[in-house]
Amino acid sequence: MAHTPVVEILKGKHSVGDRVVVKGWVRTRRDSKAGLSFIALHDGSCFDPVQVIALSNLNNYADVQKLTTGCSIAVTGTVKASEGQGQALEIEADGIDVLGWVENPDTYPMAAKRHSIEFLREHAHLRPRTNVIGAVARIRNCLSHAIHRFFHEQGYFWISTPIVTASDCEGAGEMFRVSTLDMLNVPRDDEGRVDYSQDFFGKEAFLTVSGQLNVETYACALSKVYTFGPTFRAENSNTSRHLAEFWMIEPEVAFADLSDVAQLAEDMLKYVFKAVLAERPDDMAFFAERINKDAISRLEKVIEQDFVRMDYTDAIEILKKSGKQFEFPVEWGVDLSSEHERYLAEEHVGAPIIMQNYPKDIKAFYMRINDDGKTVAAMDILAPGIGEIIGGSQREERLDVFDSRLEEMGLNKEDYSWYRDLRRYGTVPHSGFGLGFERLVAYVTGMQNVRDVIPFPRTPGNAAY
Ligand code: 4AD
Repeated sequence: MAHTPVVEILKGKHSVGDRVVVKGWVRTRRDSKAGLSFIALHDGSCFDPVQVIALSNLNNYADVQKLTTGCSIAVTGTVKASEGQGQALEIEADGIDVLGWVENPDTYPMAAKRHSIEFLREHAHLRPRTNVIGAVARIRNCLSHAIHRFFHEQGYFWISTPIVTASDCEGAGEMFRVSTLDMLNVPRDDEGRVDYSQDFFGKEAFLTVSGQLNVETYACALSKVYTFGPTFRAENSNTSRHLAEFWMIEPEVAFADLSDVAQLAEDMLKYVFKAVLAERPDDMAFFAERINKDAISRLEKVIEQDFVRMDYTDAIEILKKSGKQFEFPVEWGVDLSSEHERYLAEEHVGAPIIMQNYPKDIKAFYMRINDDGKTVAAMDILAPGIGEIIGGSQREERLDVFDSRLEEMGLNKEDYSWYRDLRRYGTVPHSGFGLGFERLVAYVTGMQNVRDVIPFPRTPGNAAY
């Protein structure tokens, strides 16, 4: 008999009296004086485990009484109305096969008690068995489907952009090298230094920091496109918001200006928040109970609110007049730090902010210069509780302006020849943004650190597993 996921039993796809086989891992076992055992069995298909009743007349009841947290079992039994409080249905077992014992239960790292989040991080291979990381994984999956659905419904095409590339999209020099060099036989220059310019089969190559430049080429052909894939930053940032490997969603839209993609970002976020509330109420209730009591209410609030659009220049004035002592000084031209962003989104506005029109000197080379000549048509979306989750802009589509900007920034025209072609052959206004997927998952769940919302976090000095 095929086995049934726990979710199908708890969500009522089976009725009292049905015969089922359920497979999973023991979360807890409790023996009653009346000669029976209660096993909470989880298989990850939903937040709750299902209760299994094992009567002492099972031929291997002695084994059942040795089951500990983490053992894997297959249960054959009958669905029954539960007499206890909580779930409506449970399973009365007439057969329990032990698939895998837990060696030395006293040292099983995922024993059924609360563990610190740092402890779980050190056991990334076992932590998905816990309530919290299991719930994060299901929310992450739900959000990623919702994002694809949103773009699909709006007529966008998903484009696969490369992971290995020669372009530094953000121009920030934070790229990981990809090397095929045979270390025993490395090419060296006249002074004996390794010649890295040949490290990818004779060319230089890196892991991508963003799929944007590549996806722009498809926007300038298919009009509405997006990428959704892993991106890499070789920055030595040890913060709760930074990873060396993270996933990014990057829509790119032809014939769209900054205001159009700001609206797209707002619509997308509201769509995915609604989806997660509708599709994962069990996991969201857990986050509200254990991680952040406002986890559900703040999403509901954001869905109802209009995002507040604010110019960078106005934000600087607001920060200056706030009377607050910030660690990083505030003056026109500086990048906003997280304390500034937090003050603006949490204390001043109390809603997500679409911050626009930043000084050009603190932004990337591809952003469109505004008429004032000092600012660019860039936006960041700052969410209360996490800060920047989206960065985007209108792209400079005027070849002459683009070329002067490259020159001003000391960048080489030849390195951007294919990108410049888009401006040479039928150029069009176009805009896009990047949403950091882990920051989104952290925002939705209330998890404090992006390392706990990606299965295997890569941070400086940490690429275990
Ligand atoms: O602002 P960023 O660097 O923008 C770009 O990469 C553009 N090319 C996007 C585009 O316009 N298509 O990054 C975009 C978002 C940030 O807002 C943040 O959410 C996330 O990516 N992000 C990170 N997330 C985790 N760890 C890091 N080190 C991140 N760096 C950026």
